[in-house]
Parts: sequence; structure tokens; C-alpha cells
Amino acid sequence: MPEGLIAVTGATGVTGLHLAPLLAERELRLRYLVRDVEKARVALGAALGPDTELVAADLDDRASYERALVGVHTLYLNSGHSPVLEQQQTNAIEAAIAAGCERIVKLSGNIDSPAPIPEAHKALEARIAASGLRYTFLRPNFYMTNLHYLAAGLKDADVFISAIPRDVTMSMTDPRDVADLAAAVIADDAGHDGQGYYQTGAAVSLDDVADTFSRVLDRDIHYRMVNVDVWKDIVTKRGLPSWLIEHQVKMIGFAANGAYSYVTNVTGEIAGHPARTLEAFIADYSGAFARTS
Ligand SMILES: NC(=O)c1ccc[n+]([C@@H]2O[C@H](COP(=O)([O-])OP(=O)(O)OC[C@H]3O[C@@H](n4cnc5c(N)ncnc54)[C@H](OP(=O)(O)O)[C@@H]3O)[C@@H](O)[C@H]2O)c1
Repeated sequence: MPEGLIAVTGATGVTGLHLAPLLAERELRLRYLVRDVEKARVALGAALGPDTELVAADLDDRASYERALVGVHTLYLNSGHSPVLEQQQTNAIEAAIAAGCERIVKLSGNIDSPAPIPEAHKALEARIAASGLRYTFLRPNFYMTNLHYLAAGLKDADVFISAIPRDVTMSMTDPRDVADLAAAVIADDAGHDGQGYYQTGAAVSLDDVADTFSRVLDRDIHYRMVNVDVWKDIVTKRGLPSWLIEHQVKMIGFAANGAYSYVTNVTGEIAGHPARTLEAFIADYSGAFARTS
């Protein structure tokens, strides 16, 4: 159990909103670094204990991080996809070094993919490893919450579309498991130094995903594979920015080679429970996949 102050970033995001209540259950000294204090106060609600600090800081503004990290022992570093993610997190790492932090726990992802975001994470991990600070890297695979986007078509039809080959499997991770892993690692000060944890759930194909949707939602749902150019056209019309489309095209190419099929038991070994299943994820968020027309 670390006695020092822990700074947490990305607390209002996909995994952060699950992480905050887990940290609140532990006897930790916490400081949340957020862009908008009032918005974060509402979002985090009861996860903010009476002694929890909320401090305004923006990853685009290194000086704000230098101020916010004074007195901090451990930095938990997580932020959303962005074309400037590497610069943003470099700001945080350099500020942590300048402020005298001792340890960084960084949420990365699969750093082996030849795509811009994983490449940024890989460079950031190398920067941290060379800094002399103690560190742990969390590397979850494809989030199940990506299905809110990938299977957005289920709101209007019983089919969803992507360019990922139907016979390829990908191991999908429930973001709640990512939060469980992060909480366990953050709270165990010296137990995970120097480690990089590739975290996954079970490996499933998009046909398996369609079968699971059908079973859980009691509908006859299918996956339709299209070629990458058709898919680019669809997501361009949906308003996806071009940098993210190019990133995803590279990820699709990597996935098509089976590069995301690996399965680990990191959740069981460190978070202490089996990885949540896709079935449970769809059941728990079934409303988000319901037909609206
Ligand atoms: N999606 C996947 O399949 C997957 C898989 C493995 C790893 N990952 C990695 O997981 C990480 C998080 O991705 P996510 O999609 O789940 O995002 P997320 O955590 O939901 O990201 C949004 C969070 O980042 C904060 N943030 C954004 N810009 C900021 C800034 N300039 N300064 C300070 N905070 C800022 C947001 O704060 P506000 O409330 O202020 O907006 C929010 O708390 C990424 O690094 C991604 O590569 C994702």
C-alpha cells in the first residue's frame, strides 16, 4: 500500500470512471488531475472521498502538470486517443520527473502494432523506462466498449459492418477489468515494478460477437465484412477524423494477421477474478445496443 500521494489522470474517461470507485475503497491519498473541476466533481460523485483532491491540469499545458504534481509519489497516466497523445503524455512524464515523482503507472495498450497510437505508447514507455523512475505498464487489448462504435449499426438494423475478416479472432477486454487491474497495481507500491501487463479477455471472431449479440439481445444479428475502402467511406460519412481512420486501417491490417488473438490471464492473476465475458458486457449494456427504429 503506497503511503504517498497518488495523482490520477483520465478519471472521467471509459476506464477512469470504473477506477475511481475502486480507489475510493482503498486507503489511499488521491489527487485527481482533471481539465474541468466542476464537470469532474459531477462525473466522479461518490467516488470522491472527503480528503480526495481535485486539481485542474491539462495535458496540453506542461506547466499545469508541473504545478499539479508537486508532492506526488505515484502518477497514474491515462488519456484518450488523440493525434497529439505522444506530446500530451510526454508533458506529463517530464512534469513528473521535474516534480520529483517516484513512480508512474501508465495505461498503454498493445504496443506492438504498427499504428500511430500504439507507436506513441511504445515511445512513451521507452521514455519512462529511461527516466530512472519506477514504472508499470498496463497493456490491455481491444476494449469491449469499442463495440458501441463498431456495432453502432445495431440501433437501426440487425447487422453490423467492419473490414475485419470474419475468421480472425481478437481478444477483447472489458474496461471494468482494466480498472480492476489498474487499481490493484496502483495500490501495490512495489509489487509490479518494471512489469508490462498484456491484459485480455477471451478471443472471439466478429461472427462469434454476432452470435453473442443474437443470444443476449434475442435478435437475429449478423456481421457483414466489407473491404477497407467501403469501410473508410462508411466511417468518413459518420464523421470520423481522417487521422483516426488511418490509425484504424492499420489496426485492421494488423488484426487481420491474427495479431490480437493472443489470450492472457493477467486479470485472474493480478485483479483476482476471471476476465469478464463478452456475454456479460453485452447483457450489462444491452440498452446501448437496442433498436431505435
Ligand atoms: N479503445 C481501446 O480498444 C483501447 C485498448 C487498449 C488501450 N487503449 C488506450 O486507452 C487509453 C484511453 O483510451 P479511451 O478511449 O478509453 O479514452 P478515455 O480514457 O475515455 O479518455 C478520455 C479521458 O482523457 C482525458 N483527457 C483528454 N484530453 C485531455 C487533456 N488534454 N488533458 C487532460 N486530460 C485529458 C479526458 O478528460 P476530460 O473529462 O477533461 O475530457 C478523459 O478523462 C488510450 O491511451 C488508448 O490508447 C484503448
